[in-house]
This record gives sequence, structure tokens and C-alpha cells, in this order.
Amino acid sequence: MSPARPAEYPAACRALFAHLPAVDRIARVDRALALIANGEIDPTGLLVARDMPGADVLVGAMLVQHLPGSAASVWVPRAVSGPNQRAVEDALARAAVARLRAGGARYAQSFLKPEERLPARALELVGFRFLTQLAFLIRDLTPEDARPNFDAPVRFVTYSAIGPNLFADVLLATYEDSRDCPELNGTRSASEIVAEYRTEAPSPPPWWLVEAGDGGPVGVVILSPKDGTGVWDLSYLGLIPRARDRGWGKHLLRYAVARASLAGAVYLNLSADARNEPALRLYQGHGFRQYDLQDVFWWRGAG
Ligand SMILES: CC(C)(COP(=O)(O)OP(=O)(O)OC[C@H]1O[C@@H](n2cnc3c(N)ncnc32)[C@H](O)[C@@H]1OP(=O)(O)O)[C@@H](O)C(=O)NCCC(=O)NCCS
Repeated sequence: MSPARPAEYPAACRALFAHLPAVDRIARVDRALALIANGEIDPTGLLVARDMPGADVLVGAMLVQHLPGSAASVWVPRAVSGPNQRAVEDALARAAVARLRAGGARYAQSFLKPEERLPARALELVGFRFLTQLAFLIRDLTPEDARPNFDAPVRFVTYSAIGPNLFADVLLATYEDSRDCPELNGTRSASEIVAEYRTEAPSPPPWWLVEAGDGGPVGVVILSPKDGTGVWDLSYLGLIPRARDRGWGKHLLRYAVARASLAGAVYLNLSADARNEPALRLYQGHGFRQYDLQDVFWWRGAG
């Protein structure tokens, strides 16, 4: 197991997506190569298995990406079918964990389709555990969406105006008793969570602190544009416990929709824990439709 050589990037990416139908595979390989070329994928995390040490024939690949704040993202190991497939996938998974530890990652996540139980096995062997299912939703934006909500009982203050510390404190307070991956609460500091969101954020970030009429902070809204695609992510919105169940979530959502639309976005994309019924009802009630569902596996290193 070793990082792919530059000449092997196309073959390694083909191995990563070998399980997909040809038409999807070609698109995914092209996209992965483009992300390597523009620096969004670190190719030193593209690990390959060869049929013999030093040989040119690749028999498997996987991808490990370190993220800010001691986090990491791991793609499921993929090996060519044959008698050694499982052994190669297991060896790739072990190499991935060695890389996670060497790079100082304290936690990592991996996404895969619910039907892909077999590749998940290799991850489970090295300590990944099933966490939850994540629902992916999207909504078209129209010019009518670009209206700020003047009737809201809350105010929106830009991240730049209030600064990182208060924002991080309120963000963390919105995680309390949340149904969105509550198992992860307490595993990361507020600054680590903010650092993860910052990787996708332009400067100044399109993030807002939400204040109630009395001026007290009650929530946050975090948007992330995806450069050049017309798609924006609603990376997160949340209210602190005492501000929930009053119908205020819709004001945060409408504000997010309006800001993305005003900025020229044509789609707003988001994901939510499939167990988070209040959030899913809120999104589905405002025109979002679910287009994907994925299993999330979670690994936690020592320390
Ligand atoms: C998700 C969240 C923003 C919703 O905001 P809210 O103002 O509390 O929600 P609302 O009171 O408007 O309720 C939203 C919907 O969920 C429903 N709902 C509320 N509590 C519920 C519960 N306990 N079980 C099931 N549904 C519930 C409401 O009836 C409403 O649906 P409806 O419009 O079809 O009647 C808020 O609960 C929150 O911040 N939670 C913690 C952070 C979080 O989970 N963020 C989302 C990350 S994706």
C-alpha cells in the first residue's frame, strides 16, 4: 500500500469508482482528477494496492483526506474482484487508519450507499462504526426567493460583525439536544467545528448569527457557495433549545434561501440526519426534495 504516483492518478481514480456504472464512473473519475489538479484533493492521500510490490498493475485504491480541526474524510476501499479482493480492501483500510493516525486525525467519517454493506466491512474491521443515515435534499431557487423576510421575529447579524468567538459559542449551543448526529456532541471543540465549516467558506463567509427581538443570540445560519456551479450549500442552520418549536426555523430557512438567491445561486443543497424529523419536515415544507440517502460511518482515534 502506498500513495499513487502522479502517472497513476487516472488508474487510481478509476479503481476508486470501478463499482459504478460506466457513465457515472467516467464523470466521477473526471471530477476527481479535476479536483486533484486544482488542489481540492490532496493526492498524497490517494492510496493504491499493487499486485506485487513496485509493480505497475493496480488492484485497489482508497482515498484519505485530512481536513482542518483534526478531522478527516475517508473513501471506502475498493479492490478488483477476485480471490484477493477482501484481503486487498482490508489492507487498504489498515493503511488508511495508519495514515489517519500519522496525520494527527482524531476523527474521520466515511459515506456510502446503504446497499454497500460489503465494502463497509473493511472499514468496520479497522474501527469505523455505523453512525446514522444522511438525507441529501435540494431545492431550485427562483427570482421570487430573493426576498429578505422582513416579518421575521428574529434578526440576522453577519459573522464579520460579531466575530468568531460569540459565533462559535452560539453554534455549539445549537447542538444541545439536537437530533442531528447527537453522538458527535462533545467530540469536537467549537473552534474545531468552525474550522471545518471555514474550509468551504469564502471571505467574508456568508454566515449569520440569529438574534431574537430582545437581542439575545438564538441561532446561526451557515451558507457555502460551490464555486462556479450555481449551487450553494446550506451547511447548517440551528436554534438553541429555548428558541425551538416556535416556528422560528422557517425564518432561518427563508433567510438562507433569500441570501443564496440574491447571491445568484440557482440551487440550494443540504444534508440532514435522517432521524432529524423537525429539520426534515421544515425543509420538505419549503420545497426541498430528497435525492439521496447515505450511510455514515465514523472513526474516532485515541486522544
Ligand atoms: C431543526 C430546527 C431548525 C427546526 O426549527 P424549529 O423552529 O424548532 O421548527 P418548527 O417549530 O418550525 O417545526 C418544524 C417542523 O417540525 C415539526 N416538529 C417539531 N417538533 C417535532 C418533534 N419533536 N417531532 C416531530 N416533528 C416535530 C413541526 O411540527 C414542524 O412541522 P410542520 O411544519 O409540518 O408542522 C430546530 O429544531 C433546531 O435548531 N434543531 C437543532 C439543530 C438542528 O437540528 N439543525 C438542523 C441541522 S440539518
